[in-house]
Amino acid sequence: MARGSTVFVCSQCGHSSPKWHGQCPGCEEWNTLAEERAPAREKGKTASRGAGAAGEPTRLRDVSADRTPRMPTGIAGLDRLLGGGVVPGSLVLVGGSPGIGKSTLTTMALGLAEAAGRRTLYVSGEESAAQIRLRAERLEAGSAPGSLSVPVIAETDLGAILATIEAERPELCVVDSVQTIGSGELTGAPGTVGQVREAASRLMELAKRTGTAIVLVGHVTKEGSLAGPRVLEHLVDCVLQFDGERERTYRTLRALKNRFGATSDVAVFEMDDSGLTEVVDASARFVEEATRAPGSVILAAMEGSRPLLVEVQALVSPSEVVPPRRVVNGIDRNRLALVLAVLARHAGVSTSSSDVFVNVVGGVRIDEPGADLAIALAVAGAASDAPLAEAGRAPLCAFGEVGLNGELRSVAHHDRRAAEAARFGLGEPVSPSGAATLREALRGARTSFPEDSERQIA
Ligand code: TYD
Ligand code: MG
Repeated sequence: MARGSTVFVCSQCGHSSPKWHGQCPGCEEWNTLAEERAPAREKGKTASRGAGAAGEPTRLRDVSADRTPRMPTGIAGLDRLLGGGVVPGSLVLVGGSPGIGKSTLTTMALGLAEAAGRRTLYVSGEESAAQIRLRAERLEAGSAPGSLSVPVIAETDLGAILATIEAERPELCVVDSVQTIGSGELTGAPGTVGQVREAASRLMELAKRTGTAIVLVGHVTKEGSLAGPRVLEHLVDCVLQFDGERERTYRTLRALKNRFGATSDVAVFEMDDSGLTEVVDASARFVEEATRAPGSVILAAMEGSRPLLVEVQALVSPSEVVPPRRVVNGIDRNRLALVLAVLARHAGVSTSSSDVFVNVVGGVRIDEPGADLAIALAVAGAASDAPLAEAGRAPLCAFGEVGLNGELRSVAHHDRRAAEAARFGLGEPVSPSGAATLREALRGARTSFPEDSERQIA
């Protein structure tokens, strides 16, 4: 019976077909067709295309634009990223790898909202109510009093979830996670593209109609490749990405998309026994913890509009494999490949027979070209095994993009980066304003290198 009302849509090219095919007839990719509900179409609509009643455009100045009301969640970092709180009737997607703290963050938000007198609902398709209670007990005693008052249902059926939200009319509702929710009207298993899209669009419709703000939790693998959340990004109002490593204490939360605010901020959280606490001055924390070892450089990064000082560490060691290992954490592999090539070709630092490891400390992910110079200095320092900072002095700070010809290119927000470095006593950073080329920058940083390492670096 459901057959007639569903179509199979290719997740690559969007081709739709009434029948399932192993290979998409549109783009010839394999295994990309997923079942979706067919768009509702009024009878005869296709025939009369273009003949509908004309709409009446309004001049923009006459459009009423009341300031969007906001509902603070009580987690300062989260509210800031959302643009001052969650917007009633909006759909927010919180993505991140398993174990990163998505359930913790959302439970805390509900607990704090409940404590502030809001109506909330936690829908879990992953954990039993008893498991959620154990988490809430910790949070109730720690950073989110109110957590034990949050009403929960453990449910995976989309129809039942929609009916519950409709009946309870919470102001803030969390659905954890979107990959576990399935509609009986589609044949695909929960987590398939069709099911995830169906769940999100039905919840979106409900949110808009009832004014309930819905937070969808979605698992994303490290590569961000999982079919689930990525296909939702264009649909939802706001996409928040939770990054970090499960074994470490730091987590960064950033907005990748926000229809009701800017996407230029990041919040750094620390996970401990009582839940997540925002690290208000993350720069101070990371500088204080910097190792000052050979191969350690402080990068003055920009996280959207905010400067953030993070430690970049490199280790260079003789390789026993061909090709040698390139292992990165917190930066893009291709960025490292480029920096290594420029170091070899234009600055005389060869790592062709060495394994190179680069790590951004604290589990922070840096996705900007401004990181190049700090990576290059860290690798050069590690290759020569000479500390870049003199004992007892502040660690070396750097930022700037490295061009393919070995030139340094300036990056946005020079002043704010330098000011952040000065604020934490780091001195003048090595940057494109002080050096024209990577070779020059290395020479400048080398004032603290011992004599015998000059050969390798000059
Ligand atoms: P969780 O929120 O379940 O992650 P996700 O929903 O993203 O999969 O929590 C992840 C980890 O955090 C889990 O291993 C337990 C730990 N944790 C704490 O360290 N402190 C706490 O207060 C809580 C609730 C969890
Ligand atoms: Mg979870």
